[in-house]
Amino acid sequence: MTNAAALDFDHVELLIGTVENAADANAKAVRNTVLSPRFYTTDFDAMDKLNVESVRTEWDVMMKEYEGDNNHDHFQRDAAFAEEVKVLMPQLSPEMRQEFLDFLISSLTSEFSGCILYNEVRKHVTNPDIKQLMTFMARDESRHAGFINQSLRDFDLGIDLGQLKRTKSYTFFKPKFIFYATYLSEKIGYARYITIYRQLEKNPDKRFHPIFRWFERWCNDEFRHGESFALIMRAHPELLRGVNLLWIRFFILAVYATMYVRDHTRPLLHEAMGFESTEYDYEVFRITSDIARQVFPVEVDIDHPTFRAGMTRLVELSIANAKAKERGGLLGAIGRAVTAVQAVFTFGRLYLLPVKKNELPADIRMQPTW
Ligand SMILES: [Fe+2]
Ligand SMILES: [Fe+2]
Repeated sequence: MTNAAALDFDHVELLIGTVENAADANAKAVRNTVLSPRFYTTDFDAMDKLNVESVRTEWDVMMKEYEGDNNHDHFQRDAAFAEEVKVLMPQLSPEMRQEFLDFLISSLTSEFSGCILYNEVRKHVTNPDIKQLMTFMARDESRHAGFINQSLRDFDLGIDLGQLKRTKSYTFFKPKFIFYATYLSEKIGYARYITIYRQLEKNPDKRFHPIFRWFERWCNDEFRHGESFALIMRAHPELLRGVNLLWIRFFILAVYATMYVRDHTRPLLHEAMGFESTEYDYEVFRITSDIARQVFPVEVDIDHPTFRAGMTRLVELSIANAKAKERGGLLGAIGRAVTAVQAVFTFGRLYLLPVKKNELPADIRMQPTW
């Protein structure tokens, strides 16, 4: 497999920017770009009307798992953590340090995004099933965000979460779009963390930061969050047929493409783990696609040569766009407009590729066995 595009660090720097101090880190978390994690709000009345009776047995089993809270003591640093940070972090090259910070800040923003959304839904509904679910998921995401923030504080780059909540803008999504997008981001989050965890389990010498030791039990939370949205969608089968299949295709592709382009701005990070960004991303796509068969009747064909070529093209276009932005002036503006149109066109081509069809399994729940 060839690398998606030749990325030297100048390109990376153009795409991810640099973080020198806490103000930069906070500004990065607040900023909304095509690639950065967003905050969402939704129609709370519609959320309140959800009915999970048709999946009651599975739902109650899942609620018992949340109540059991097997990760209640997981997100505490052990004695070795600080020591490892002290030894390992000075060894990072400045470029690698920037990629790692970008990884931590975007991961924190996306954990916190879940925390805010779930908390807002919890506050605005009276439906006991949904209220209880949102309480548990907000609990988990707040732990995840807090744990990453501790690692940013080691660099004196802690994010002020209260300030972030007040200043970052919110995107409104109808509940069904929240379900498609959040289901995918929870499952892809699981796939990303477990792929990294397994890789570093095999290659402990490549574990350049202690936080990765936490990923296995951590990603089981994300897996379960995804299960919750799978049950909600399966309880509302109208969300999984007709014109909604077109929306599902759109969301799968949008989530995959965003991840792919974003990950290709961090080649050194993957290299340090013994991966290559393209190989890592296809492993994550494969796991996510396998899992998503529990709920989505369609899946994108990630092995189609046009799919692969399109993903590569999107990375090239995002580099070209960043270069045009840096150039500035009229030529820069034209360059940005042209690359933006080309990206839309490329995305459209990917969207029109044939999809694979799935028969949904009678047994909805899955176990995190990757
Ligand atoms: Fe999380
Ligand atoms: Fe989650």
